Amino acid sequence: MPTPRLTPLEFRKALGHFTTGVTVVTVEREPGEIQAMTANSFTSVSLDPMLILVCVDHRAKILPLLQKKKRFGVSVLKEGQEAISEYFASGEQSAETEERLSIRYRWTPSGIPILENTLLHLSCNVIASHLAGDHTIFVGEVEDAVIHKGEPLLYFRGEYRGLARHS
Ligand SMILES: Cc1cc2nc3c(=O)[nH]c(=O)nc-3n(C[C@H](O)[C@H](O)[C@H](O)COP(=O)(O)O)c2cc1C
Repeated sequence: MPTPRLTPLEFRKALGHFTTGVTVVTVEREPGEIQAMTANSFTSVSLDPMLILVCVDHRAKILPLLQKKKRFGVSVLKEGQEAISEYFASGEQSAETEERLSIRYRWTPSGIPILENTLLHLSCNVIASHLAGDHTIFVGEVEDAVIHKGEPLLYFRGEYRGLARHS
C-alpha cells in the first residue's frame, strides 16, 4: 500500500480551509427528549426529490438514533450562536446548560424536533444511509423548511466567523 501523503491531522487542517455554516442535527431519543449534535458536514444533494445529507461519526451518540428513528431536524445556527455549537459538540447535554444558553426545542407538526431561534430549520426523513470510512452519510428527504431572519454562523480553520459586508 502506498504511504499516504497526508497525516490525519494534515488532512483535517487542509479541510478546515473549506468554509461552512454550522448546523445542529436533532433526533427524538424518547418522547420529549432530544439528542443533538453539531455538524458542519451538511450539504444539499438534490432538488427533485429534495434531498440533503449529513455525515455522522461512528462514535456519535446520535448515530444509532438516526438509524432507528429515521427522522431528524437540521437547524442552521445564526451568528452569535458559537456557544450553542460548542455545547452540542461537547458530548454532554444538561437541562441546566440548555437553560443558561436559552436553548429551546420545538416540534414540527409532523413531530420532528428542531432548535428554535435559528436561521433555518429543516425537517427530514432518512431515505438512505451509506457507510463511508469512519462516518455514515445520512441522506434526508426534506419534508419542510422554515426560514428566519438573521446572519449565519461560519466555521473556518477551526474558528467561528461571521459574514463581512463589502459595500
Ligand atoms: C463546527 C463543528 C462541526 C462538526 N461537524 C460534525 C459532523 O459533521 N459530523 C460529526 O459526526 N461530528 C461533527 N462534529 C463533532 C461532534 O459535534 C462531536 O463529536 C460531538 O461530541 C458528538 O456528539 P456526542 O459526543 O454526543 O456523540 C463537529 C463539531 C464542530 C465543533
